[in-house]
Amino acid sequence: MEYITLGRTGLKVSVAGLGCGGPSRLGLRDNRSEKDAVALVKLALDLGVNFIDTAEAYGTEEIVGKAIATVPRDKVFISTKKKFPLDDPSDPAGEVRKSLEQSLRRLRTDYIDVYHVHGVEPPEYKYASTKVLPVLVQLKQEGKIRFIGITEAFVEDTTHRMLRQALRDDAWDVIMAGFNLLNQSARSSVLQKAVKEKVGTLVMFAVRRALSQPKRLREVWAELTKKGLVERDAGNPEEPLDFSIGDGKASSVVDAAYRFCRHEPGVHVVLSGTGSPEHLRANIESLAKPPLPAPITARLKEIFARVDCITGN
Ligand SMILES: NC(=O)c1ccc[n+]([C@@H]2O[C@H](COP(=O)([O-])OP(=O)(O)OC[C@H]3O[C@@H](n4cnc5c(N)ncnc54)[C@H](OP(=O)(O)O)[C@@H]3O)[C@@H](O)[C@H]2O)c1
Repeated sequence: MEYITLGRTGLKVSVAGLGCGGPSRLGLRDNRSEKDAVALVKLALDLGVNFIDTAEAYGTEEIVGKAIATVPRDKVFISTKKKFPLDDPSDPAGEVRKSLEQSLRRLRTDYIDVYHVHGVEPPEYKYASTKVLPVLVQLKQEGKIRFIGITEAFVEDTTHRMLRQALRDDAWDVIMAGFNLLNQSARSSVLQKAVKEKVGTLVMFAVRRALSQPKRLREVWAELTKKGLVERDAGNPEEPLDFSIGDGKASSVVDAAYRFCRHEPGVHVVLSGTGSPEHLRANIESLAKPPLPAPITARLKEIFARVDCITGN
């Protein structure tokens, strides 16, 4: 496992982070048992992952708490999130404090390494920055959270309007952005600015559905060519990314997708959300591999250069 400094936080985090939400929620969505989910988090730790992302909304904080109970607290970094918008916007201090206390209890810890406002849509950013942020700053001063983060609602905001605003404020230590080889728009709008501001960056949606399910990839390709965002002759509509796979190239579309994100300048942690130990091992292996051959990366950048309207879900 490689480790990298998470921007201004100074935390030395693994380049592979375990995502405990998304379509898998550690396998809970496929009715895997809580015991299996705890074992999956422990496997990630054994494989060198020290960054674990969860949220009050995922229902996986308790699982993470059980899995890390025997690990020295300073050997693992916990990222969790306050559900947003708030249930009671008239009392941000009361609600955020209550949520945080509940997260701390479920995670069996007395501090959170990165505490985010979760999935903020552009029109809600003003409330997040003027009403929730001051509460988080206070909680940081009290030592209950070490660093403050914000995550975007990528499905509703595929061009990163909210994060562009957030990066202008110089108030957030860490951001979480949607980025993958299909929608690379975070490169110019978010990642380059984050590097300048020394903000820690977490990438979500590296594979999601379109890059892990061949049928979904064909559908997305058809949609993009129909809209004229991707040239029809840019790839084989049956297997649009087959040019990236083979000897000396990627071993699969998933492998290509992770390596593409991992080596994108400005990306610190690539999150991998899975319920499968086999997928977890493979994904961590992909994230440890060198960049894709330069001509493949260049071709992927060229093909999808104009795409900013999809998430790859
Ligand atoms: N706004 C937010 O704050 C926000 C939103 C979304 C996600 N997140 C965070 O980001 C993390 C990562 O995002 P994500 O989980 O949505 O997406 P992701 O990690 O890009 O993709 C997860 C999907 O890919 C499948 N998958 C993973 N590895 C695979 C492999 N090797 N082969 C085939 N399929 C594979 C998983 O199914 P299997 O279970 O079968 O492996 C799952 O359906 C989340 O877990 C969460 O922590 C945050």
